[in-house]
Amino acid sequence: MNSPSNYPSTRVSIIGAGKVGSTLAQRIAEKNLADVVLLDIVEGWPQGIALDLMQARGVERHDRQIVGTNDYTDTANSNIIVIAAGIPRKPGINREDLIKINARIVTEAAKSAIAHSPEAILIVVTNPLDIMTYLAWEATGLPKHRVMGMAGILDSARFQTFIAMELGVSIAEVNATVLGSHGDLMVPVPRYSTVNGIPIAQLMDAGAIDRIVQRTRHGGAEIVGLMKTGSAYFAPASSTCLMVESIVLNQSRLLPCSVYLDGQYGVKDLFLGVPCRLGSQGVEQVVELELSDTEKAAFIESGKVVSQNIDEAKAILKTAR
Ligand code: LAC
Repeated sequence: MNSPSNYPSTRVSIIGAGKVGSTLAQRIAEKNLADVVLLDIVEGWPQGIALDLMQARGVERHDRQIVGTNDYTDTANSNIIVIAAGIPRKPGINREDLIKINARIVTEAAKSAIAHSPEAILIVVTNPLDIMTYLAWEATGLPKHRVMGMAGILDSARFQTFIAMELGVSIAEVNATVLGSHGDLMVPVPRYSTVNGIPIAQLMDAGAIDRIVQRTRHGGAEIVGLMKTGSAYFAPASSTCLMVESIVLNQSRLLPCSVYLDGQYGVKDLFLGVPCRLGSQGVEQVVELELSDTEKAAFIESGKVVSQNIDEAKAILKTAR
């Protein structure tokens, strides 16, 4: 099954055909960004989803190939690998509780996928996000600029949503910034959040901002609480697709992603959410915003928790060997 020759043969492999992985496959193919390989350990499941998405092509009007597989050799020569494997959040389980289960799944998936696509850019989506991204980087030994985690776009999109809802303005006018870890200690930054360039503090009172900030911090948990047996996947898939798009089309978009920090923002040897530019080579630049003392302290605090959790995850992985 070859792509029509007028398409560049960009290939994105998604490891984990759950809700996020399969929704992402749909978005990538239907936006005509790349051919997609969807891999899962459950036999028949990714093949079924791929066939379903293939059958939608005539209606959606694209010629992208979507392949479902249980075999990593089918992912060979991918430009981008997305790791969406692992268990999702559920009520009563916080992101950190997921470490034990997901650390092993993510490191094995990342190693297996990169073995067949050594030049690929790796995007990690599995929670707890910043920890899993670090472990995947370490396990694969990839250069730092080729490993990143998706969370900042999602958290910023939630902040953006609540600002638009509060003010009753079009979401297209709203830009919102959330930094730090993907967890309760994430750092929404109202100063860098605007409606058509106007800082939100000039448009709503401090109480409203505080309420929206809290809702953003618990944006994922609110959805888990409603869904009861699962967690968000539409906005996570859209957010990951934006990263894929910026890389595949070499757009150099400035997006908040979990990237390796080597002293920026006062943090060393951690992956945390900061604005960066994404292009065909991966992370082109980590952008260091000027932060107030309070914002910087909150950022560093979120990093401390991530750092402790990485140590814990490494200990778990070691005992298993
Ligand atoms: C969320 C989970 C997926 O934020 O982390 O919705």
